[in-house]
Amino acid sequence: MTHGISIRTAAVLGAGTMGAQIAAHLANAGVPVLLLDLTAEIAGDGLKRALGLKPDPFFTRDTASLITVGGLDRDFGGVAAADWIVEAVVEQLDVKRALFERLETTRRPQSVVSSNTSGIPIAALAEGRSEDFRRHLLGTHFFNPPRYLRLVEVIPTPETGRDVVDRITDFAVRRLGKGVVVAKDTPNFIANHIGLYGVIQTLRMLDSGDYTIEEIDAITGPALGRPKSATFRTMDIAGIDVLGHVARNLAERVPGAAARSAFTLPPLVQALIDRGWIGEKAGQGFYRRDGSDILTLDPGPMAYRPKQPARLPALEAVRSVEDVRDRLRTLFTGSDKVGAFLRQTLGPLLLYTAEVTPSIAHTIDDVDCAMKWGFGWELGPFEIWDALGIQTVLDQLQPRSIPPLVEGIRAAGGDRFRAPAADPPCTGPQLLPGARDRSRVLRTNAGASLIDLGDDVLAVAFHAKMNAIGGDTVQMLQAGLKEAAANFAAVVIGTDAQNFSVGANLMLVLLEAQEGNWDDIDLMVRTFQATTQAMRYSAVPVVVAAAGLALGGGCEIALHGDRVQAAAESYLGLVEVGVGLIPAGGGTKETVRRATLHCDPRADVLRSVQVSFETIAFAKVSTSAAHARQLGYLRDVDGVSMNRDGLIAEAKRVALEMAREGYAPPPRRLIQVGGESVTAALKLGVHLAWRGGGISEHDALIGRTLATVIGGGSLPHAAGVSEAYLLDLEREAFLKLCGEPKTLARMQHTLKTGKPLRN
Ligand code: NAI
Repeated sequence: MTHGISIRTAAVLGAGTMGAQIAAHLANAGVPVLLLDLTAEIAGDGLKRALGLKPDPFFTRDTASLITVGGLDRDFGGVAAADWIVEAVVEQLDVKRALFERLETTRRPQSVVSSNTSGIPIAALAEGRSEDFRRHLLGTHFFNPPRYLRLVEVIPTPETGRDVVDRITDFAVRRLGKGVVVAKDTPNFIANHIGLYGVIQTLRMLDSGDYTIEEIDAITGPALGRPKSATFRTMDIAGIDVLGHVARNLAERVPGAAARSAFTLPPLVQALIDRGWIGEKAGQGFYRRDGSDILTLDPGPMAYRPKQPARLPALEAVRSVEDVRDRLRTLFTGSDKVGAFLRQTLGPLLLYTAEVTPSIAHTIDDVDCAMKWGFGWELGPFEIWDALGIQTVLDQLQPRSIPPLVEGIRAAGGDRFRAPAADPPCTGPQLLPGARDRSRVLRTNAGASLIDLGDDVLAVAFHAKMNAIGGDTVQMLQAGLKEAAANFAAVVIGTDAQNFSVGANLMLVLLEAQEGNWDDIDLMVRTFQATTQAMRYSAVPVVVAAAGLALGGGCEIALHGDRVQAAAESYLGLVEVGVGLIPAGGGTKETVRRATLHCDPRADVLRSVQVSFETIAFAKVSTSAAHARQLGYLRDVDGVSMNRDGLIAEAKRVALEMAREGYAPPPRRLIQVGGESVTAALKLGVHLAWRGGGISEHDALIGRTLATVIGGGSLPHAAGVSEAYLLDLEREAFLKLCGEPKTLARMQHTLKTGKPLRN
């Protein structure tokens, strides 16, 4: 689907927080960008700041080369080349209008102009502009940070061309990987309007003095299906001044006195803004970092005190409840402090959302998606209504008036906004079919399922916790490869979860190692190796759809796909060294194979394997799919999907294309290894790093073990060896390291904390 001319080049006006990062993300999508600010120097500084930001707005370091900086003073003519001009200058109507007036004569007809304003009506920006300009003008409201937050609100005016809306929506979804919601041109659009309403209700609870900042963050975080940063940490990150602007704008502009007073900031927030304690960028806000400690604001004396962990038994009680809907139901009706909190904050939020939705959005789906994509909520407000049940909400809250949207459903005898079996909004196409379509599931166990994707393509869908790879996952992979070879044209391996896989189930390895069950570990590794080899030599093409984390064994699965189709946000890494091991599911072997594939045996094998050695030894994890390519985890033939929702379809398309082109498994070729001299050289590097104090004694041991495998064991000279030979070396090294107490300590530590231990 394309609409009019496609977007090949862009210009971004304003190189501040948003402008520079929007430019970065356009560059991530491969679009050359002209980034302008008052002067070229200011724009250059803006770009430099973006290059230093964490999390990184750029996929790779060299992505920034697609951005050209310039000044609005001298380089304005350059915007004539842009198909899309994004305005992201200061939030002042007169400044934006003046800029648009200049654009009138400079922009190319048909080029799209959009504003990133968070609160100025788009209609006000259209005033005084020519017809072609108005037809091509709309709001595109990105959320900070634009690379990572999915939501873009697209705001047309009545005069914006339908094709223009479609063109920008299509581009934002497919090329920028965004989730687009088309919003009505009302104050602060959808997500900030609803989100701020909730934040201010919550701030009032802090004002009441009955809850501490820690307690509120404990309630409003993952317990409710919201990000870990919950309420106050989120505000510190986003900037309390930004919150102030948005709230003030809403308080001035929303219709109705009651709604306006709902957006009046509590005095505490104003006090923070007056003092300049506006959050992370000022070094302090609701929290302050003090060395490695975090201090918390005590709102009474306006001073910081040590953090006090929240003790809320109701939250403890639901900690093990997996489904957020079940947690919400229990918490919302609770007779304790948490229940009271939710009825006084979430309750009014639900009522208010139902009240304003018809005027700010086109559908309830749009509202739910805006909150899920813009604020990282697991459930949107209408999904929460349905989780609690309309009648329960009304019984608990006893509101003075019932929103017409709710009344309409009750009048028809309903208790929910959506049917229980309806697909949840904005989750994208799922591998695992919904309840109505179970016939497509051919087999299933606790780790994975085989799913008929249609068109003769079989999917192996992972669904274990964090997709840790255990016996059941491996068994299902093998079953899938067998099934596909007999009855399908191709295989796709993927998941509906955020993360492809965090790697092998360490707990299993640790337990066996502690018991000294070496034969069991040996069998486990052998089985995994046989599985990745079966992928590689399967009679039908195997495409791995990687997304999010693909670590350790998960990365090894990706390395053995005939192709990988990776989501742009893919974090691949052979991280085994972090837990005191080396990759032994074929990962080390595959790394050597790739490194020496085109290497002349008489030439320097060391040079070819040095980089791969370091990638494994330092357990490097890619920060994007593009970066994974630089690290060698992805090849040039592997594909990248900017939008996660399109990933499986794209993987399936690639798989079918390979099948149609007459797929044959790769020939079994020998792998070039360097022999003893390469091993010795790699070991020398390890020794020097250890002597220099850069790595621990145990790191050095692992490094030497890895060097031996990569060099090809005890071969006296360079030679071609079979894959089986290298797999044996990998496995032996793995077993040997499993016998090291410090390796066991690393595994234990990682299982407990999720972080590596450098002992
Ligand atoms: P910022 O203050 O970081 O950057 C604004 C840029 O505009 C600066 O680089 C400044 O040099 C430039 N500028 C100042 N006066 C100018 C003038 N007369 N002509 C041209 N340029 C001028 O602001 P930020 O945060 O990047 O916001 C930009 C736009 O994005 C605003 O409309 C804001 O409402 C919106 N927005 C901001 C978000 C945020 O979280 N910061 C989120 C979503 C939208």
